Amino acid sequence: MKTSSTQFVLAARVLHWLIALLILTMLFIGVGMVASVSERHEWLISIHKPLGISILILAIIRLIVRLRNPPPPLPADLPPIQKLAAHASHWLLYFLMLVIPLVGWAMLSAGGYPVMLGHSLRLPPIFPVNAAAFAILRHTHAWLAMLLFLTFLAHLGAALYHGLIRRDGVLWSMIGNRTR
Ligand code: HEM
Repeated sequence: MKTSSTQFVLAARVLHWLIALLILTMLFIGVGMVASVSERHEWLISIHKPLGISILILAIIRLIVRLRNPPPPLPADLPPIQKLAAHASHWLLYFLMLVIPLVGWAMLSAGGYPVMLGHSLRLPPIFPVNAAAFAILRHTHAWLAMLLFLTFLAHLGAALYHGLIRRDGVLWSMIGNRTR
């Protein structure tokens, strides 16, 4: 399955770009949801929930792929502080991809709302009904989503730095088919 030590395996690359697209879409849907009071709000929520659960499932698969296929090493001449920042931000992204959907699901459970994925598929509650917990989880969901957005921007900036300024092959290791 592993194609070369200078690039991520195909499954990791496909999952990376698919999840990136879903997360970007989700952040805009989330903000659009809280900014609209018309019937569009209900429509956006009905997209937000299944998309969020899809991100959770894809992130779990991606984590398994990542643990089974170690990523290509960062360039040897990259300063240690940048290596540390890269590793820390990658694990933060994994953490947020798993925790934000779970907090969204727990929030709706705490509020006593059914978590519907489409018309007939209903997920079980994962938190007891509790109004105070609902309020805390709702704020937590929003703040973690904001942190995800900031981490996403830093990640994008780092990718462009590697691809356009250092030109060290790091960006290509996630795009594929080009050696350093
Ligand atoms: C990676 C996945 C997710 C991301 C990035 C995300 C992002 C967001 C954002 C940015 C908001 C707006 C926060 C605010 O400003 O108040 C939001 C609200 C919300 N999210 Fe998520 N979310 C995710 C997953 C989920 C899941 C899985 C569920 C439920 C199963 C969910 C349910 C909700 C609900 C109910 C709201 C509040 C809507 C409202 O009050 O109008 N989210 N989300």
